[in-house]
Amino acid sequence: MKKKLMTVFGTRPEAIKMAPLVKLLQKNGEFEVKVCVTAQHRQMLDMVLELFAIEPDYDLDIMQHGQTITDITSRVIKGMEEVLKAEKPDMLLVHGDTTTTFASALAAFYQKVPVGHVEAGLRSGNKYSPYPEEMNRMLTTSISELHFAPTQGNRENLLKENIADYKIAVTGNTVIDALMSVIKEDYSFGGELDAVDFENKKVVLLTCHRRENWGEPMINIFKAVRRLVDAHKDVEVVFPIHMNPNIRKIAAEILSGNERIHIIEPLDYEPFANLISKCHIVMTDSGGIQEEAPALGKPVVVMRTETERPEAVEAGTVKIAGVFEDDVYNAAALLIEDDAEYLEMARAVNPYGNGTACEKINKKLAEFFCH
Ligand code: UD1
Ligand code: UDP
Repeated sequence: MKKKLMTVFGTRPEAIKMAPLVKLLQKNGEFEVKVCVTAQHRQMLDMVLELFAIEPDYDLDIMQHGQTITDITSRVIKGMEEVLKAEKPDMLLVHGDTTTTFASALAAFYQKVPVGHVEAGLRSGNKYSPYPEEMNRMLTTSISELHFAPTQGNRENLLKENIADYKIAVTGNTVIDALMSVIKEDYSFGGELDAVDFENKKVVLLTCHRRENWGEPMINIFKAVRRLVDAHKDVEVVFPIHMNPNIRKIAAEILSGNERIHIIEPLDYEPFANLISKCHIVMTDSGGIQEEAPALGKPVVVMRTETERPEAVEAGTVKIAGVFEDDVYNAAALLIEDDAEYLEMARAVNPYGNGTACEKINKKLAEFFCH
C-alpha cells in the first residue's frame, strides 16, 4: 500500500514554495498525497492555489483580521488535530518558518505523526529577529524527523544542533523550482503595470512586511524610499503592498501622492516574478525575494538588521542595509547613481539550487520509507 503524505501550508510564501512539490509528488504517484491549507492568509494563499491549480483536501480557513501569533497558533493546533486524526498520514510535510509551520508540526507531534521539514536549517542567530520566524524554525527542527536543507550552510546549522546527518538532505530551495516554472522572456503585464516606464526609468521593486519592522523601522524605510524618488528623477517605484492593514496605513501616510510611486495590490506570483526580472533593483525585507532576485541577476537592498540567507550576501548580490533611514537611502542611492557598483551586484548567482529541489525531496522521502 502507498504511504500517505500530507502537506500543510498557510501563507503566500509557503504556498509558492510547496506548490511545485505538491505537483511533483502528485505526478510521480509514488505516494498518496493529501493537501491541507490552514489559510493563515486567505486571499494571498488562494492566488497561489489558483495559479498552480491545487485543490486542497482540507481548508482550516483560520485567517482573522488583526490576528495575533497566539490566535494563529491555537487555531492551527486545534484544526490540525482533527485533520490528522481523520487522515492518519505517514508523514506531515511542513515548510519554512511561519506560525502555520510550527503549530502544524506541534499538532503532528501530539498525534505521533513524523514531520518532514522543507526549507530547514536557516538561522539568523537572533531569536527575536526575524520574529517569530527564527524560533518557529528552531522549534520545527526539534520536532522534525527529516530535514530538507536548501544549502550546505543550512545543513551545517542543523549539524551544530545535533541533528543526525542521515536525517538531512541538501536539496536546493523549491523556490527556484517555482520560479523557473513562471519566468517568461517575453512576459507582458497588462493592467496597472503598463503605466510603469521600464524602458526609460530605473524601476525599484519594493516590498516590506516583517513584523519586527512594524512601526519605527517601517517609517524609516518608507521615508528613505520617498527621498530616493525625490532625489532621482529617473527612479520609479512599484510597491505591491502586503494586505496587512498595519503596513497599508504607514505606506499611505508616507508614500502616497507621488506619480512615480505606484502602490498596487499584491500581484499573482507569475507577474510578480516577471516584475523582479524586469526591474532595476529590489528593496525588500522579504525572505523569499532574497532568493529569487539573485537568481534573476537583480541587486537586492535588504531592509533588515540581519539575514538567515547569507549565501547571496557572500556572492555579492544582496546588501544588508539595516532599518535606519540614511542607511537604506545610501544603499539604494549608490546602486542608482554608480553604474560600476550596480554592475558589480547585478550578476545572476544561484546558491539556492537549479530547480531540482522537489526531485531531491521526493528521492529522500522514498529512501526514508524504504528503510
Ligand atoms: C506571515 C508570516 C511571515 C511571512 C508572511 C508572508 C507568521 C507569524 N508570519 O506574516 O513569517 O513572512 O506571512 O507574507 O507566521 N491579510 C489579509 N489577507 C491575506 C493575508 C493577510 O487580509 O491574504 C491580513 C489580515 O488582516 C491578517 C494580516 O494580514 O490578519 C496579517 O497576516 P499574518 O499571517 O498574521 O502575518 P503576516 O505579516 O502576513
Ligand atoms: N510575491 C508575490 N506577489 C507579491 C509579492 C510577493 O507573488 O505581490 C511572492 C514573492 O515572489 C515570493 C513570496 O511572495 O516568492 C514572498 O512572500 P513574502 O515576502 O510575503 O514572504 P517571505 O518570503 O518574507 O516569508
